[in-house]
Amino acid sequence: MSDEQEAPRPQETIMQAVFGFMASRALTVAATLNVADALHEGPRYYTDLATAVGADQRSLHRLLRLLVSLGIFEETAPGTYGLNAAADLLRADHPQSLRDMAVMITSPSHWLAWGEFDAAVRSGESGSQHAYGTDLFSWFQLEENREEWELFNAAMTSFSAGTAAAVATAFDFSSYGKIVDIGGGHGALLKQLLADAPQAAGVLFDLPGVIEGAELGELADRVELVGGDFFEAVPSGGDAYVLKHIIHDWSDEQSATILRNIVASMAPDGRVLVAEIVMPDSSEAHAAKFMDVNMLAMTEGGCERTEAEYATLFEAAGLRLVAIHPTDSIASIIEGVRA
Ligand SMILES: C[S@@+](CC[C@H](N)C(=O)[O-])C[C@H]1O[C@@H](n2cnc3c(N)ncnc32)[C@H](O)[C@@H]1O
Repeated sequence: MSDEQEAPRPQETIMQAVFGFMASRALTVAATLNVADALHEGPRYYTDLATAVGADQRSLHRLLRLLVSLGIFEETAPGTYGLNAAADLLRADHPQSLRDMAVMITSPSHWLAWGEFDAAVRSGESGSQHAYGTDLFSWFQLEENREEWELFNAAMTSFSAGTAAAVATAFDFSSYGKIVDIGGGHGALLKQLLADAPQAAGVLFDLPGVIEGAELGELADRVELVGGDFFEAVPSGGDAYVLKHIIHDWSDEQSATILRNIVASMAPDGRVLVAEIVMPDSSEAHAAKFMDVNMLAMTEGGCERTEAEYATLFEAAGLRLVAIHPTDSIASIIEGVRA
């Protein structure tokens, strides 16, 4: 027998892609029902599990059979389900939990905008515009969408936790005196960076309403909180400006404006450190390609960029791309200096 894996038949390739949305939806339902939490103490027979999570027995069995086939959960004996490493990440209290991300990905905020994906591809406008008549973030601010907004933020926090740790360890921040986190949210990344760079002072910059919720714990006295709009100006005098999952939200023009504002404000030998997924040039399967179409469906001009596109963007903002540092996560750190 040959060691070479046979290529899937064309019908299989299409059918796998056709069924893809069912995998996302099934995962959302399992996460919403907190199935992983109910299995934390050990495997359970599906009838008992169904009672614990409030589901129909046979339907839950069928849902889990699909997820097991996708490598999420395991069937330890016929009809008895348990956690495997992937399913463990669906527990709400796992330190790298992806539970809220799994719940969010087919919740109304995404489901409705993705329902307009054909319109997005035809028009180049976001699915959100077609679904809501406005951009996603304006829709989130409506009182009736508060729950969706909270879910989105929880999902971003859970998704971010793993990347933040990976970014902090992949780059040596110990020589910088002042580290500015642009769009730093509530400070999760900045806390990690300052813990590894005891000499550094931090600046947490985000929209005023977001900064109010900063949670810096015992590092609070080393951090200046600054509320503002990065399209207007950013805090000055920083040695390192970190932007994690910021640039991919915006068009080239908008991104160049943000970066130009940083160039105008940073110390003479300051660094810009953009943490994003870098789109490979090859045709390989890669998370960046899913992220990118998600940005197309959801945002106004957001996208994932190749190394060459980052180099061009940096140039337009007066920066020179000097290195791309891989991290132990899907994100890399794209390092720039004044051109
Ligand atoms: C996708 S989140 C990334 C948050 C954080 N850096 C992370 O990786 O978890 C984008 C952040 O940009 C902030 N933001 C959006 N528009 C902004 C603006 N005009 N000025 C400053 N911050 C802004 C949001 O409030 C949010 O915290």
